Amino acid sequence: MTNELSTETIDRLFAAATKAMHNAYAPYSKFTVGAALLLENGDIIAGCNVENASFGGTICAERTAIGAAVSQGHRDFKAICVTTTADVVVSPCGICRQSLIEFNRKMIVICTTQNGQRQTFKAGELLPHAFTSEDL
Ligand code: THU
Repeated sequence: MTNELSTETIDRLFAAATKAMHNAYAPYSKFTVGAALLLENGDIIAGCNVENASFGGTICAERTAIGAAVSQGHRDFKAICVTTTADVVVSPCGICRQSLIEFNRKMIVICTTQNGQRQTFKAGELLPHAFTSEDL
């Protein structure tokens, strides 16, 4: 599945996700996350997790990136790269899976570590039997 994107594109996405991760506001969990969306036109829009003293107000990196992209008029997401400082690959939480599915069930989701691990999924694979607009 990774081969749908060039290595160069994946590297660019990873770099953007890593840069965003360094801006994460995570004073409570100390778990910093960066996410970078690849638009169909090749542009990249990134986001980081933004925590809050009222913990439920926390926004994950994936949804920060989606919010930034949608706010700039983009909805055509081809892929997303997620990175953290964890030693093992971390995949998007349930709420973020629902948010990814909203825009593209076939979105390529590349989960990465800073030590070189990469694991690739499709959004639909991460949330089977999802509730979507088709159910409304
Ligand atoms: N987090 C993300 O940014 N993305 C995920 O998919 C999983 C969790 C953040 C939320 C919180 O700031 C920290 O990681 C610990 O849960």
